[in-house]
Amino acid sequence: MNPRIENWTGQVVWLVGASTGIGRATASRLHGLGAQVIVSARSPAALDTFVAGHAGAQALPLDVTDRAAVQVAAHEIVDRHARLDLVVYCAGTYRSMRATEFDLDVALQHQQVNYVGALHLLDAVLPVLLRQNAGHLSLVSSVAGYRGLPQSLAYGPTKAALINLAETLYLDLQPRGIGISVVNPGFVETPLTAGNAFRMPALITPEEAAREIVRGWQRGHFEIHFPKRFTLWLKALRMLAYGPYFAAVRRSTGL
Ligand SMILES: NC(=O)c1ccc[n+]([C@@H]2O[C@H](COP(=O)([O-])OP(=O)(O)OC[C@H]3O[C@@H](n4cnc5c(N)ncnc54)[C@H](OP(=O)(O)O)[C@@H]3O)[C@@H](O)[C@H]2O)c1
Repeated sequence: MNPRIENWTGQVVWLVGASTGIGRATASRLHGLGAQVIVSARSPAALDTFVAGHAGAQALPLDVTDRAAVQVAAHEIVDRHARLDLVVYCAGTYRSMRATEFDLDVALQHQQVNYVGALHLLDAVLPVLLRQNAGHLSLVSSVAGYRGLPQSLAYGPTKAALINLAETLYLDLQPRGIGISVVNPGFVETPLTAGNAFRMPALITPEEAAREIVRGWQRGHFEIHFPKRFTLWLKALRMLAYGPYFAAVRRSTGL
């Protein structure tokens, strides 16, 4: 569905949200495969540690909610490398929330980081990708964006928006030779999920997630979802009519 990225040597890859977790593990894997990796997130110290352990990698600290900062970083990369081969949006925040404890500030913060930040990135890199008629943009969403889930009041809608954004971008950009993918992980053991009090089914490591993601780009997939033992089950639930869907979710979560 997308141009396959099979040879990573020298590929200019910018990962936003790569100081920890899935983004960091993916950056590390791509660095190992020979890519020129640029990592962004808010924490300069964590990015510097990454660079110290990955020769030739570059750190560009930024906050994705700062539109100008994302523009400046994109310009810096293009000035230095003259192109962008792969841009990955992994920045994300998550707090469980139910309607009985609705917090508008937290919900808006999810919207800013998980969705508006992706629009800021889009605004900064789209002109470059369109000029090149090449390159790839990948948005890390979640299976939580498939359908409504309990405790997902702040997080789920932002991930649904990202999936829709990726689908729409694909329709517009694939004919121009630009790759678009959406990554929908199940549960991955990272700082984001560390606070979950419930048992996370089919939990995997960030390194396993990174392997799946890179394999998906290599194979040219539009949707990269994993682990299949969990995501295929959620995909089946996605097909159900509302009545059986709500009943199945209540049964399996007890909520
Ligand atoms: N873990 C899972 O089970 C799971 C499942 C499905 C989807 N996902 C998605 O995968 C992505 C990566 O999550 P993760 O699990 O790897 O969590 P993580 O380790 O907490 O990583 C989140 C990354 O986003 C960065 N970030 C957060 N707010 C930011 C901001 N305002 N500006 C710039 N960077 C920001 C964080 O760095 P700083 O704090 O230094 O800024 C960090 O690098 C997220 O989009 C998440 O929703 C995760």
